[in-house]
Order: sequence, then C-alpha cells, then structure tokens
Amino acid sequence: MAHNIAVIGGDGIGPDVTAEAIKVIRAAGVDITTSEFDLGGSRYLKDGEILSDETLDELRSFDCILLGAVGTPEVPPGVIERGLLLKMRFELDLYINQRPFVGVAPGGTEPHDFVVIRENTEGPYVGEGGLLREGTPHEVATQGSFNTRFGVERCIRHAFELAMTRDRKHLTLVHKTNVLQFSGSLWQRTFDEVATEYPQVDTAYNHVDAACIYFVQDPHRYDVVVTDNLFGDILTDLGGAVSGGIGLASSANLNPDRTGPSMFEPVHGSAPDIAGQNKANPTAAILSAALMLDFLGERDAAERIRAACAEAGTGSTTDVGDMIAARVGN
Ligand code: IPM
Ligand code: MN
Repeated sequence: MAHNIAVIGGDGIGPDVTAEAIKVIRAAGVDITTSEFDLGGSRYLKDGEILSDETLDELRSFDCILLGAVGTPEVPPGVIERGLLLKMRFELDLYINQRPFVGVAPGGTEPHDFVVIRENTEGPYVGEGGLLREGTPHEVATQGSFNTRFGVERCIRHAFELAMTRDRKHLTLVHKTNVLQFSGSLWQRTFDEVATEYPQVDTAYNHVDAACIYFVQDPHRYDVVVTDNLFGDILTDLGGAVSGGIGLASSANLNPDRTGPSMFEPVHGSAPDIAGQNKANPTAAILSAALMLDFLGERDAAERIRAACAEAGTGSTTDVGDMIAARVGN
C-alpha cells in the first residue's frame, strides 16, 4: 500500500529541496501519495494562517510529514518557528529529534558515525517564563527549563534502544550537571537508572562545553549521544559542521509511539538569499527522506538512498537530485 505523505515545502529553498527528495523516493521504487500543504512565512503573509487547529488535525491523518524549511525575512523571528515548527513538535508529540552524523571532521582522515538524540518537547523550548516591567530600567526576564521525569525517561530509553541496534552499543549523556544542578540531577539519575536495564550498553557522560571540543577534535568517541532540547539544538549544528557541512545534515522528529505522524526535515533553514536560484544542495532533504523511509519500514530503499548520497553530487539543485535518483534505481 502507498504511504500517505504530507508535504510542507515551506519557504525559500524548502520547496525545491523537498521536490528532489520526493523524486528520489519515487526513483527508489517506494510507492507514496503526496499532499502539499502551503504553510510557512509566505503563506502567513498571504492570509495570516500559520498552523490552524483544523490544518493540524488534517496532518494527523498522514503516515508522515516531509518538511523543507520555513521562515522568510519579512516575518519577525519566532513567529513561524513557534507557530508552525514547534507547534507540530509539541502537538504531534514528536519527542525525539534524531540527527545522524557521518563524515570526516576538518583535518581528520577517518569518517566518524554517530547519532544525536535530542529531547524535542521540553527544556527551554516550552516557553516557561516572561517579562516584567518591560522596557523599564527595572525590567526582569525569566526563561525556565522544563524537565519532567516522564519526558526525560522516554527520551533516554529511546537512546538506549537505538544504541542496542548499533555495533558499538555506546551511549553518552551530554548535559551541564556541574551548573544546572536541578535539571542535571534529573537527567543523570534517570540515565543511571535506565542504564541498569541495558547492561550491554557502555555509557559515558560529558559536560556540554567539553562535548563541543570532542565533537571537533575527537568525534570518534561518540556512537549515540543523548541530550536535552537546547543543548541538542546547538550541538547538532556543530555536528553538521564537522560532518561535511549543514548541507548534508538530516533530521527526524519522531513520535516513536506512533500516535501521530512523524516529521522529517533537513537541519538547514530556508536560505532566502539563494531561494529560486536552483543552487541549494538537496542532499540534506534527501537524507531526511531516507530517515522517513527507515521509519516507514522501507529499510532497503533508505539504504540505497544513503549509499547514493555518499558520493557528493555536483551542479544545480535539480542536477544533484537527478544524479542521486539515477543511482538509487533498482
Ligand atoms: C532546529 C532549528 C529550530 C530549533 C528552530 C528553527 C526553531 O534550529 O530544528 O534545529 O531551534 O529547534
Ligand atoms: Mn537548530
């Protein structure tokens, strides 16, 4: 049966890279039906819709969502991010943000291969806090980090389960327990407790600042990394930078319980400066589509797509898409 995919091309280069991803899925022989949703900054400027509850309900009926990139310079920062992207993560309970990094770090010779599991529904992203006496010399701003035992545990469990499927079976918790005593304590205790159920998995802990050094200087130490929402956001940009560039970085926003569709998107943004020029590298979107196929149980096609992306494509957006599509053919 065909997989039913909701496509949100979005803004800037988003629609172009997504079109190449769909082309490659079809070339790999996977049967999909697609429905386009016009959402993002440009749609918002047209009629004010960001993501209504009706549209969200429509999205719930799909098997997966493929997203390009959202954001236009005309819309103030935060509006589309919070109203569309984060709303989907929260409302569809996409509590895992899984970002694989395979590549050779600058100055390195051997490729590394690790995955970051970022908690995706809690932490500072919840938006706890506020402004008091705004605009006065006595202004106060607070921004809390929201961590629940339930949320932390399900994320850590997912990371252990993933580590179990990998050759090295190694999992590193990244946090800042030396300063963030409360959230750090919850993360560390939960990690240690869950670890007792997975004696086959080797574990480690790094403070996030030290992890930034290791990502650059010794990425081979990592197999699976688990961390909170904000640390994960920052670390995965660094992960992209040391693994061939953000143009190759893919991500899966997963609802592992499958109570709704999961969402797949490249880590990069909408790059308005090169929009419409057929210049953007579609590889990150194509690799995100491969993550989607993994989740849909289309392992063989996903592997073929990853193999086809391993050799760098050159030329325009459509040239690279065509080249990869030609390589994945059965
Ligand atoms: C990401 C992005 C988002 C995030 C933004 C666009 C809200 O940077 O997916 O990494 O911070 O999570
Ligand atoms: Mn980010």
